[in-house]
Amino acid sequence: MKVERLDMLFSAEEIDKRVTSIAESINTLYTGEPLVMICVLKGAFMFFSDLVKKVTVGPEIDFVRVASYGSQLASSRTISFTKDVEISLAGKHVLLVEDVIDSGFTMEFLLRQMRARGAKSLRVATLVDKKERREARVDVDFPGFSLSTGFIVGYGLDYAERYRELPAIYVAVPEES
Ligand code: IMP
Ligand code: MG
Repeated sequence: MKVERLDMLFSAEEIDKRVTSIAESINTLYTGEPLVMICVLKGAFMFFSDLVKKVTVGPEIDFVRVASYGSQLASSRTISFTKDVEISLAGKHVLLVEDVIDSGFTMEFLLRQMRARGAKSLRVATLVDKKERREARVDVDFPGFSLSTGFIVGYGLDYAERYRELPAIYVAVPEES
């Protein structure tokens, strides 16, 4: 795909409102409880950093990175860790923070891995939920925005490692072939 232009989908202000609302739900749910927030690199880095600044329950934070083999636009089913968590999750509430859940295979893998670590609870926050394209069953506890079609970039999300730095979310419109 060659990108012809970027059409703004969610402005920085709209994103900030959703992030604030998700943080409020997190603060309500986890008051007085041990919480580990896990950022799924790289795409979730900007969402994660804005979110944790608004979380008042004193979470521990950690990072994971997974690789999936296959094309850039469609998800493949072969997924593995290139970086695992480093802190113990036993007896703590765990919240996975992802950028986009599309087919759901990535999150299904992460949930399966994390379930073996003895967490008190395991929940999922995602900035963008592409529900219509789901193939694996994943329950999203804290959805940001829903999207049915289109490839999006910005606010941490990339196309071929570009556009992550943009403060808003855009639809990457492909050149007509
Ligand atoms: P899944 O395994 O199909 O759910 O794929 C989720 C991963 O694909 C996310 O972590 C993103 O990195 C990537 N992804 C899916 N859709 C988009 C998109 O529209 N823009 C950028 N990345 C995306
Ligand atoms: Mg990702």
